[in-house]
Amino acid sequence: MVYRIALANEALQDHIFQAFFATTPPHIRRVSAGELKEIIRDRALWAVTESGTGDLVAVCYVRDFFSPRRAEFGGLHVKDAHQRTGLARALCVLAVATFLWLNRHSKENVAVLTYVHVDNQRPRKLLKSIGFNQAPGVFPATSGQELGIDLHPRESRLRHMFVLPSSEYCKVFRLAADYLVHGKLEKHHSVEAHLSLGLTAEGLLSICSDDLSFGASNPP
Ligand SMILES: CC(C)(COP(=O)(O)OP(=O)(O)OC[C@H]1O[C@@H](n2cnc3c(N)ncnc32)[C@H](O)[C@@H]1OP(=O)(O)O)[C@@H](O)C(=O)NCCC(=O)NCCS
Repeated sequence: MVYRIALANEALQDHIFQAFFATTPPHIRRVSAGELKEIIRDRALWAVTESGTGDLVAVCYVRDFFSPRRAEFGGLHVKDAHQRTGLARALCVLAVATFLWLNRHSKENVAVLTYVHVDNQRPRKLLKSIGFNQAPGVFPATSGQELGIDLHPRESRLRHMFVLPSSEYCKVFRLAADYLVHGKLEKHHSVEAHLSLGLTAEGLLSICSDDLSFGASNPP
């Protein structure tokens, strides 16, 4: 199977809502149709489709919040039939690398973080393999409230926070460059990333080799 990873556009909006957010699994925060529209408008939602059929397979978002400045990776969901192929890892790496690439000249510190319900084991090894560290403590589900969104009672569940230290940014770039060049996943599956935005494997790698201070002066 060849998976196509790209930013979602408005034409896919209703389809994505029905497939992933109308009835969300217990570990994903509910996103209303209106909020999804905003996320897509902000070019923050990534969608994976099967290359041949165009069927939707997975989604995630990387949202830029400004006060305090932080980027939140979330909404990660791979349809059951496509799990354990390495797709979630590739999607996470490419989405986060794109965010870092777009903000590579930013003088401001942008922390990249994500939340995982305390009882959700699946994403933990994945996040750690990319370079995320679990922060101490547990966090109530407040991110929706900060945005003025009503939370469903189940979403008052406690979460752990994972933060990507800036010392790992180059690791993410190298992983992303590898997906761009080879596209290899598990079990003969592969990914084709359509990132445009001027992002290339060479560009990602050159940032890390040319600018040895990349990330280092930008502590989380
Ligand atoms: C979490 C999820 C996105 C992982 O998707 P995936 O495509 O299967 O993940 P990958 O194939 O890229 O696997 C990456 C790692 O995730 C972990 N993982 C994936 N499925 C797992 C499972 N069923 N049990 C334990 N660990 C699992 C493994 O550590 C795996 O690495 P490994 O194969 O080297 O051991 C998927 O299970 C899912 O959509 N779950 C429901 C929604 C959810 O919980 N999202 C995360 C919210 S924070």
